[in-house]
Amino acid sequence: MDDDQHLLSGETTDQQESVIETSLRPQRLNDYIGQTKIKHELTVYIQAAKARDESLDHVLLYGPPGLGKTTLAMVIANEMQVNIRTTSGPAIEKPGDLVALLNELEPGDVLFIDEIHRLPKIVEEMLYSAMEDFFVDIVVGQGPTAHPVHFPLPPFTLIGATTRAGLLSAPLRDRFGIVEHMDYYQVDELEQIVFRTASIFQTKIETKGAHELALRSRGTPRIANRLLKRVRDFAQVDGKESVDQAVVVSALNLLRVDNMGLDETDIKLLTTMVNFYQGGPVGLNTLAANIGEEAETIAEMYEPYLLQIGYINRTPRGRIVTPAAYQHLGINPPQTKGE
Ligand SMILES: Nc1ncnc2c1ncn2[C@@H]1O[C@H](COP(=O)(O)OP(=O)(O)OP(=O)(O)O)[C@@H](O)[C@H]1O
Ligand SMILES: [Mg+2]
Repeated sequence: MDDDQHLLSGETTDQQESVIETSLRPQRLNDYIGQTKIKHELTVYIQAAKARDESLDHVLLYGPPGLGKTTLAMVIANEMQVNIRTTSGPAIEKPGDLVALLNELEPGDVLFIDEIHRLPKIVEEMLYSAMEDFFVDIVVGQGPTAHPVHFPLPPFTLIGATTRAGLLSAPLRDRFGIVEHMDYYQVDELEQIVFRTASIFQTKIETKGAHELALRSRGTPRIANRLLKRVRDFAQVDGKESVDQAVVVSALNLLRVDNMGLDETDIKLLTTMVNFYQGGPVGLNTLAANIGEEAETIAEMYEPYLLQIGYINRTPRGRIVTPAAYQHLGINPPQTKGE
């Protein structure tokens, strides 16, 4: 089943999913679960900007897929009581596309650029003056009649989101006054998200069921919501009144999501490192070629979570498997490791 491959990807998989996501998005900072530090900071910045009647400083949100960057951007616009225009890096192909977007902004509005690391260079450079001094210089006309035009913009807030902050150029990064790193969610926060989603779905879920689901969601709200959708189907077919721990365990075992939220690719990655490279160090590209995944996919989707739970470490010579991972795999770690 093709869908299963995406079960833990953290990325949106289809149209239907994004429709459901829209209905699940919290609207206010207060309803936005977790990310306490970020929420606290944003509350201050938003309140201050509103008191001064200014646009909010530009915001960069970065972190793994599915943690709520798009949701947070919408919440910010909502709290600022301004409009939000949403686009993505690859969708803005030429400077004219950017000018068209900027031209529609009203004072204080938010322009949200998802995957901002994928902006074409020429568009990115135009963004510098737009962000810093609220103008762009454009060339109007062609051939001998071509002439530069200074085009002033209303003050606006750019919110950029990226899963790969490392790929942003320094000049772009430096123009964001507010830079927030989104972290994986704690289990109790994911539990709250599961309860919230369950109530929107009008599904009953027991505390132990929600806890088990939270444990297996890779710290990611999108995955928690997706797994809940699957699990409630199993509960329904089993004729259960509510989703309990047993149905979560049996459904997720069937879907091959283990008790740490790892799927077959994670396990393959770890066992390959153990069996073929004595636990590492091994380079990303070598590993990718070995397990038949794109290096990019591993770097973006698999590795960050394995690093987070301490199953792999990064060293200058490559990735290594940790004793905790050996334990999870049920394999004895080698006695001496020249590390
Ligand atoms: N803090 C939160 N509280 C409640 N629900 C959340 C929270 N964060 C995310 N969600 C839910 O998780 C889903 C994914 O969130 P979102 O689309 O904002 O992630 P993202 O970080 O933008 O992902 P991507 O990197 O793929 O663009 C949404 O359905 C949203 O409702
Ligand atoms: Mg998004």
